[in-house]
Amino acid sequence: MTVTVVAGCQWGDEGKGKIVDYLAAHADYVARFNGGNNAGHTVINDLGTFKIHLVPSGIFCQNTVGLIGGGVVIDPAVLIEEIELLHRAGLSLEGRLWISPRAHVIMPYHKILDGLYEDAKGAGATGTTRRGIGPVYADKVSYNGIRWTDFKGDTFESRLKVQLEIKNKIISALGGEKLKFEEIRETYRGYYAIIQPFLRELFGMVQDGLREGKNFLLEQAMGTFLDTDWGTYPFVTASTTIPSAASAGLGIPPRAITKIVGVVKAYTTRVGAGPLPTEIKDPESKEYKKFSETAATTGRPRRAGWLDLEVIRTASTLCGITELCLTKLDILSGLKKIRIGSGYKLENRSVSYPDLDTASLGMAEVLYDEADGWAEDIAQIRDFNDLPESARNYVRRIESAAERPVRWIGVGPEREAIIHVEE
Ligand code: GDP
Ligand code: IMO
Ligand code: MG
Repeated sequence: MTVTVVAGCQWGDEGKGKIVDYLAAHADYVARFNGGNNAGHTVINDLGTFKIHLVPSGIFCQNTVGLIGGGVVIDPAVLIEEIELLHRAGLSLEGRLWISPRAHVIMPYHKILDGLYEDAKGAGATGTTRRGIGPVYADKVSYNGIRWTDFKGDTFESRLKVQLEIKNKIISALGGEKLKFEEIRETYRGYYAIIQPFLRELFGMVQDGLREGKNFLLEQAMGTFLDTDWGTYPFVTASTTIPSAASAGLGIPPRAITKIVGVVKAYTTRVGAGPLPTEIKDPESKEYKKFSETAATTGRPRRAGWLDLEVIRTASTLCGITELCLTKLDILSGLKKIRIGSGYKLENRSVSYPDLDTASLGMAEVLYDEADGWAEDIAQIRDFNDLPESARNYVRRIESAAERPVRWIGVGPEREAIIHVEE
């Protein structure tokens, strides 16, 4: 039995979807346990190119059963669209995808409130995906949420009525338009009819699987530094993203987890506001042009920066990473010199990430080392020893900061564009 958590070590978009799709060949169960459709995980394989928001990225391997745990928040319209998209790609999910009835449902007022809060905060806005994530988790922990299980009888209607009374007052006060009960009831009853066959309490299946020695692959959404507690609050997401969230979010005892794969992008990106210490500010620079990306969920440009080893060091200890997957090493090809953030200084003192609050992190000076780059295109390389020496040295720097081995190196976006580093 293996229970492997795949967790991003930076600010999200490390390439989790790709490595999950790759590792799923050896999994019986693939699961999501946190977040919602704020996530956008890109998978490129023989079936096509997919940007997946809710269904676990390991679903493309026919040997797997997909689970969406109670820790996930679900926008039904997005889920239904995704199920249909996968269906068109030739994947039938009936009997292969199971959703916890404990999962909370994103309602129209969550999305509206997300936008209204952001607008009200002006320059101090988090830069959320506006998918209703903060408000739905706020309702969850303040006992105002609606879960799939509420749709079984008429609890949904009674809870919706109360919530609309509360939410319409807030929406009106903030200048928004009031929502209508009948409309929402009808739409959501329609969603429930489609999603109902996928709902099933996961507890028995998960516990049986653990007892029978099955392999679980648990896919984190977001990254370590978007975690509500350990990230750069308030520029974070609304769920716990560190691997311990897999326990509550899926119903797996913490001691059952056997491996935690930390996914590290060869440079750093961030979408939305908040400190990014190694950020490259010059949009005309060669490295900025190489590193900047388009967000998979919102289509916004991703901010870009050099690799930050303090971030990797912190993620490795905080998350209990056992091995690393380095992604997008191919993107560094063609840079003569590569800067590596090796630590921070504040007021002439060396400081580490956990010592800094968000404002101080924004002011910290980054100490850089400069490493030699390489000119060669490495996309076709499949053996670690065939990488240029400076690329191998770059990998070694990351291993020594994390004090963990790099087991996989991504050299392209496709499933097979990967180097498996032998132990
Ligand atoms: P996730 O949210 O962590 O799954 O990451 P995203 O899918 O949002 O962003 C990662 C981007 O990098 C996607 O466009 C992937 O297709 C791409 N990608 C992943 N691994 C590699 C790699 O090793 N090399 C290259 N060139 N692209 C990669
Ligand atoms: P994946 O799983 C990158 C960011 C948003 C914003 C902050 C809060 O693809 O790595 P939210 O909508 O969650 O309330 O927004 O978190 N964010 C992500 N950034 N990748 C993600 O997911 C993200 N999910 C949320 O940009 O800064
Ligand atoms: Mg993403």
